[in-house]
Amino acid sequence: MPQPSFFAKSVPFEQIDKLAINGGYSSIYATGEPNVPVVGNWKQRFCRLADTFQPVLDRVYNFEVREDDVWIVTLPKCGTTWMQELTWLVLNQCDFETAKSIDLTIRSPFLEFNGVVSNVPHDTIEAANELSSPRLIKSHLPAWLLPHQIWTKKPKVIYVYRNPKDAAVSYFHHWRGMVGYQGSKEDWCQSFIDGYVNFTPCWPHVLDFWQLRHEPHIFFTSYERMKSNLGLVITEVAKFLQRVVTPEQVLQMVEHLSFESMRENPACNHVKEFESMKAAAGREVEEFRFVRRGVVGSHKDELTAEVIREFDLWSDVNLRDYKLNMDDFANYSKY
Ligand code: A3P
Repeated sequence: MPQPSFFAKSVPFEQIDKLAINGGYSSIYATGEPNVPVVGNWKQRFCRLADTFQPVLDRVYNFEVREDDVWIVTLPKCGTTWMQELTWLVLNQCDFETAKSIDLTIRSPFLEFNGVVSNVPHDTIEAANELSSPRLIKSHLPAWLLPHQIWTKKPKVIYVYRNPKDAAVSYFHHWRGMVGYQGSKEDWCQSFIDGYVNFTPCWPHVLDFWQLRHEPHIFFTSYERMKSNLGLVITEVAKFLQRVVTPEQVLQMVEHLSFESMRENPACNHVKEFESMKAAAGREVEEFRFVRRGVVGSHKDELTAEVIREFDLWSDVNLRDYKLNMDDFANYSKY
């Protein structure tokens, strides 16, 4: 039996209780030094995940990567679906018909979804294995929990950052609508800040990819840039992937990828994932549309001044030593 690459330490019960979900949560640590080319104190680094992820982590780590894969890596609620749809169109000669008729989760699997819902009818790792090239694969895992071959075969990786306050608000609605969370928004935000929700802590996740942003196979961008100039981000992604998109196709894509079009597009609203998560939650959840509000600064009218202050303090503590602020991530362009 090969040695497992990770080990888990359970998080205190009060934290699990606060998340108001069934089942346990753990901090995941690497057993050895990960082969990601970033500086990190690996003995102290961890990622918090529901215990349902544990059988999946080694399978993901040992997943066979292909050099011509394209990976979309994000923290949840940072515009993953939006970037997946954009990138899928760039890779598939703007085939809008297929994009509208086949669910995005089939065209671009969420690799570790089996960890979110353990008895999902279609094993997502198998689905990704079977996909024909060039594959477009989504993951929310931090760099060091991704398949290790990513750092040797160096497929293209697109990382999308979003202001954590907006991402946390979006995640709160997701957790209510898709998991059945019934706790308060304040408790949710505290759990996000303390790094007790899936895929957190947030800042190390972002900072690893920030360190990697100059690598030729890494493209770091933001939800905020997609909102302010989607056409530009489309042309940058096409350049990064060495694909041609004509100015006319860019216009068509901007229309297809608009908030209004994506909101009305069933193929982009995670309907199938929603069904399996609802069944796994085993309780009624509130009416929820995945493409929800789509604005920059949604936290301003959804969080109290006190919670906003807590978030700002937390960001400052995490970024101060690096002399970085949130605008650095939101405005960065590779080109
Ligand atoms: P909000 O909940 O703030 O509206 P992810 O795909 O990573 O889960 O991200 C989901 C977030 O992206 C949601 O944010 C969703 O509304 C937003 N989103 C999805 N498609 C979008 C689009 N075309 N334009 C703007 N925002 C979009």
